[in-house]
Amino acid sequence: MAGRMDGKVVIVTGGTRGMGEAEVRGLVAEGARVVFGGRDEGAGNRIAAELGGHAAYVRQDVSSEDDWKRVVAITLDRFGAIHGLVNNAGAQAASPIAKIKQEDIDYLYRVNQLGPILGIKHVVGPMREAGCGSIVNIGSPAGVKGLPMLTAYAASKAALSGVTRTVAVELAPHGIRVNLVVPGFFDTDLLSENTGGKSAELAERYVPMRRIAQPQEMVGTILYLLSDDSLYTSGTEIRVDGAYTI
Ligand SMILES: NC(=O)c1ccc[n+]([C@@H]2O[C@H](COP(=O)([O-])OP(=O)(O)OC[C@H]3O[C@@H](n4cnc5c(N)ncnc54)[C@H](O)[C@@H]3O)[C@@H](O)[C@H]2O)c1
Repeated sequence: MAGRMDGKVVIVTGGTRGMGEAEVRGLVAEGARVVFGGRDEGAGNRIAAELGGHAAYVRQDVSSEDDWKRVVAITLDRFGAIHGLVNNAGAQAASPIAKIKQEDIDYLYRVNQLGPILGIKHVVGPMREAGCGSIVNIGSPAGVKGLPMLTAYAASKAALSGVTRTVAVELAPHGIRVNLVVPGFFDTDLLSENTGGKSAELAERYVPMRRIAQPQEMVGTILYLLSDDSLYTSGTEIRVDGAYTI
């Protein structure tokens, strides 16, 4: 049966757990070849083995330009082209502004902002060669509304909105699309670790849909943006948040 992603090669960062893992599995199920990064080698190798020859795991720190060069080289060597990139990897830290640590600001900048910029830089060449491309950046409610204690995270995620708009305009003439997805409350380790295990409870209280989302519920939007279903969609922002941010 034909899949929506047949013939497409996609890189997903932070693909060893959470929404990234769900995206890797969902993309392969729709016919894509996927190279996914992450720092957990055990999980990466296990997921790649389950997906047979359709996916490859590469150890990657998104804030390292050398790692990006290696990921892109391995993807081209293994699958011959790059059509999609999901800048999914992310990190969070919370602190009152009066106690914020410079090391946390630097760290979140490197993972959430520098990483996606370097990723875009290194896939542009192969996407231009392929004649098309779709890049998806993952933002956050902290990047679009005021959420206390999240200054460093908000700064890095709000920056991605600017990056998305800028690069969407710059790359449009080359047939490369760039969009931002803003997840609301998703049931992942990141959210659980940052809410003291109370993420489902908080979602029930604050999300108009009154529930937390499962990582698989992100996959449809990612497939839409990476596939030819959205060929005239670029520079936009899609919120997958049960009406939370509105
Ligand atoms: N879970 C939520 O409710 C929520 C809400 C808004 C935004 N987000 C964003 O969604 C994305 C996915 O998060 P998730 O909830 O699935 O979290 P997660 O912690 O399960 O997954 C994040 C992944 O990124 C990886 N990662 C972190 N730093 C990295 C680095 N330097 N190099 C490479 N990989 C790195 C982690 O190892 C992990 O695999 C993140 O960008 C996050 O900020 C999540």
